[in-house]
Amino acid sequence: MDRKEFLNQVGIGAAALLAPVCLGGLAACGKSNTGVPEAPKNVDFTVDVSTGALASNGGFLVKNGVIIARTNSGTFLAVSAACTHEGTTINFVASSNKFVCPNHNAQFSSTGVVTQGPANKNLTVYNTSLNGNSLRVYS
Ligand code: FES
Repeated sequence: MDRKEFLNQVGIGAAALLAPVCLGGLAACGKSNTGVPEAPKNVDFTVDVSTGALASNGGFLVKNGVIIARTNSGTFLAVSAACTHEGTTINFVASSNKFVCPNHNAQFSSTGVVTQGPANKNLTVYNTSLNGNSLRVYS
């Protein structure tokens, strides 16, 4: 085996070891190139708001990577649940009508806009539609 053959085989071996970790690049792993999970796409699901956290104003829950909140005035909000800083799941703070990350305290408005760093990218906002006790959350 000459030097070129050896390097080719070593290179293929290294690539083969890395391939199972994440085929198709970082996006295929559900992570951006910063390690933050990408906001869910093609969202379309329903939640029952007659029971659980969404039955009361100020409640919130996370489903399918989306945080769904019921404001103190009874309207519903839905945004991507992963903080755009490092991916920690955010919370809804009804008293101030905003989303807050418990990790480094990034804050987002009710429309997902960054109002305090260290996050520097807005959350993705989803549509909501209430039909009886069934809340549809969709892209
Ligand atoms: S992970 Fe949310 S502020 Fe750092």
